[in-house]
Amino acid sequence: MILEALEYLTTPCPKWVRDMGYLREAIAIRHRARRCHADWAQHQTNTKDAILSTARAYGHLPDITILGAGLCLDIPVQDLSPLTDRLTLVDAVRLRGVRLPQNARYLCQDIEGSATALYAGKAPPDRPLVDFQGPGLLVSVNLLSQLPLIPTRWSDDPLLGQRILQRHVQSLRDHTGPTLLIADALRWTLESKGAVLSQEDIAQTAGLPPPEHSWRWPIIPAHEAGHGPRVETEVGVWRL
Ligand SMILES: C[S@@+](CC[C@H](N)C(=O)[O-])C[C@H]1O[C@@H](n2cnc3c(N)ncnc32)[C@H](O)[C@@H]1O
Repeated sequence: MILEALEYLTTPCPKWVRDMGYLREAIAIRHRARRCHADWAQHQTNTKDAILSTARAYGHLPDITILGAGLCLDIPVQDLSPLTDRLTLVDAVRLRGVRLPQNARYLCQDIEGSATALYAGKAPPDRPLVDFQGPGLLVSVNLLSQLPLIPTRWSDDPLLGQRILQRHVQSLRDHTGPTLLIADALRWTLESKGAVLSQEDIAQTAGLPPPEHSWRWPIIPAHEAGHGPRVETEVGVWRL
């Protein structure tokens, strides 16, 4: 708790990131990832493998852009570096401790545009990923289901979450180069003995077909849930 508070106070970031709660969430993810290291390891390996095998299939790429980079726990940064001229990592917030190779840069920005638009009282941009257009590979990594979480707390619009999911998928589809999406397809909330309390079909809401392949990720395993519900997802891979 003390470490989390210290990190919160000393991490440099724009005001909207702190005020809207992105910094707090990012720090919480870092600490949950430590506590759930063993439970998350296979998911992180699967994510890295999917990114690397896709990038290798294209030979040398002018750009590789990773959306939802976070702490790069599920991104094979060092292996991607020689496959491209420029590796770009994008997230709302860059926490300390992310090491980058020489040809990499880390951009802190609102990937989807709804968060900063709500914060500023404006309409979201029509084409949120326009800065990343080009022949390079665009990868969205374990980000899709996270995109609506904070904006929906800031709005009364019951359709905002669905619109954000669909807009992100559409912007990936509009990308001129190859695109890889790795994202929660289904999310289950489970009681401690495993009975399903609720199921959310994120892929269907986002307008996605069934994934090319998928695996299970125990995001909140029993030891993390305590007396509360466990959460598990099916993570899917799509080339859009
Ligand atoms: C589940 S984490 C991804 C894990 C990350 N690849 C890692 O290894 O740490 C989701 C990430 O999405 C980011 N995120 C959520 N909404 C965002 C937005 N609107 N713009 C930019 N990043 C966002 C969060 O800051 C978080 O780092």
